[in-house]
Order: sequence, then C-alpha cells, then structure tokens
Amino acid sequence: MIHFTLNNGIEIPAVGLGTFRSKDEDAYNAVLHAIKVGYRHIDTAAVYRNEAAVGRAIKDSGVPREELFVTTKIYNGDQGYMNTRRAVVASLEKLGLDYVDLFLIHWPVSYELSRDTYRALEDMHIEGYTRSIGVSNFNFHHLEHLFETAEIMPVVNQVESHVYLQNEKLQDFCMRHGIRLEAYAPFLSHKISELFKDETLQDLAKKYGKTIPQLVLRYQVEREIVVLPKSITPARIEENLDIFGFQLSEEDFKTMHSLNRAWKIFPEADNFSE
Ligand SMILES: NC(=O)c1ccc[n+]([C@@H]2O[C@H](COP(=O)([O-])OP(=O)(O)OC[C@H]3O[C@@H](n4cnc5c(N)ncnc54)[C@H](OP(=O)(O)O)[C@@H]3O)[C@@H](O)[C@H]2O)c1
Repeated sequence: MIHFTLNNGIEIPAVGLGTFRSKDEDAYNAVLHAIKVGYRHIDTAAVYRNEAAVGRAIKDSGVPREELFVTTKIYNGDQGYMNTRRAVVASLEKLGLDYVDLFLIHWPVSYELSRDTYRALEDMHIEGYTRSIGVSNFNFHHLEHLFETAEIMPVVNQVESHVYLQNEKLQDFCMRHGIRLEAYAPFLSHKISELFKDETLQDLAKKYGKTIPQLVLRYQVEREIVVLPKSITPARIEENLDIFGFQLSEEDFKTMHSLNRAWKIFPEADNFSE
C-alpha cells in the first residue's frame, strides 16, 4: 500500500473503501472483508446511514484502531457551529469510536454555513474528536472563501474524479495550498459500464494484464490522488486493492491523460440543494 502524507504530517493510505449506497449488512460485510484483505482506510458519511455498521465491522475486524484511517462527513442539514458539534458527537457514537482520522464538510452549502461548520470542526479537532479536517465538493471559490477565515488548512478536498474528469486545475490549486485531492466515484459510480466499453482502456488493461478498474485506480494513484473505490463484492474489494504491482509507462500515462473529457456525473456543488 502506498501512503500519502497530509499537510499535518498524518499518513493516509492511497486506497480507501467507499461505502456510499452500501446498506447496513452489505457495509458491515464489505468493511470486514476489506480490512481482512489489507485495506486500512474506510470512507463513510452521516448521510450514508451506515456509520453504525461500519463501526461494528471496524471493531469486529480486531485490527488495532490506530492502524486504521476512518473518514466521515457532516451532511448539509447539520451545518452551522452548534449543529456540527452535535453531528460530530452523533457520528462518533454511531461509529463506536473515540475519534476519526478525518472529518469532512460533505458539500458546501453557503459561504457562511461552511465557515461556521469549519470553525466547529477546527475546534473539535483541537479537542481530539478528529485527527484531521477537510472538505468535499469544494470548488475554487468555496476554497478561496474558506481560506479567508480558516485557521487550519483542510488536509483534503474529496471530489468526483476519474479518467473522464481529471480535475487538473483543481488539483494544482489544491496542491499549491497543501490540500490533497481524494477521488470519489473513481469508476463513474452507477455508470461504471461506460468504463468497460472504452476501447482504449480495454487495450491498456490487456497490455498490463490488469482489469479496467485496476488500471483507472492505478492512474489516479500515480497522479498522487487518493482513490475511494466502493464495492460490496468480496472479489472486487480484493481486485481494487491489487494495484501496486505495476506501473504505467510514460506513454500510457499520457494516453490515459488524453481520455479526460470533463464529464461530471454528480451535480456541481453550486447546483446541489439536497
Ligand atoms: N463526497 C461525496 O460527495 C461523495 C460522493 C460519491 C461518492 N463518495 C465516496 O466515494 C466512494 C466511491 O464512489 P461511488 O460509490 O459513487 O462509486 P464507484 O466506486 O465509482 O463505483 C461503485 C460501483 O462500481 C462497482 N465496482 C466496484 N469495483 C468493481 C470492479 N472491480 N469490477 C466491476 N465493478 C466494480 C460497484 O459494484 P458492487 O458494490 O456491487 O461490487 C458499484 O456498482 C463512495 O462509496 C463514497 O465513499 C463521496
């Protein structure tokens, strides 16, 4: 497993198990299996409603807590200073953990709310509830606004990112500020079938003797982006971790780069109002 170092010195495993749309029993089994086969990084969120199942699997895995990197997120209705404080405590209770490794603001709602939510996360970080804090779905202007009042830099920005949406400008901007990009929906989420139809990816996967999911994860990790593949299928969970035994040639890296077509599947943060 490759690790990246966050701007606070904490190491984050480059591959984390996603749990969006994983219902309780599936989430429990997926997390348990993932940890058993070597995952040390799990991504959940209050809105996934599976934090309790994820927490049970973490406990039952028998792996010492300090070896795991656990992320959860504050959802939109819980934003604001006091709401966030309550939501952090509620998430930790559900997870059955004393702390998480990373708490994120799931979506920017408004500048004011994000600022107050972030301030609560900064305070709760200092109080020991979370080892790091960060954001998700933040665009340039959300980040710039946050920088005006933040006292602690976010460690990551978790955004949709895959071969068809490579987010280079956002990645450059974030890297300049010491913020690591995390790629959600690395397989295009529910549109994964589009990846399998791509002839360029088919050819490259064949060349490396790897699957298309492994190829696209490898590409993002070589771009120094954390990937969060979701699966509830044991064989796929294993497949998605097996990406460290090969390296893309410069030419093939460029070919993967050329697939970028700014294809966004999830809504833009500015148009999202759930
Ligand atoms: N911050 C945010 O706003 C946000 C938004 C979306 C997602 N996320 C995070 O990012 C994670 C990943 O995104 P996602 O869940 O939307 O989608 P994803 O990881 O791009 O794709 C998941 C889909 O791919 C299938 N799959 C996984 N591995 C496969 C393989 N090796 N071969 C064939 N099919 C495979 C899964 O099926 P099975 O499960 O049936 O195996 C599932 O249908 C989420 O789970 C969540 O943790 C965050």
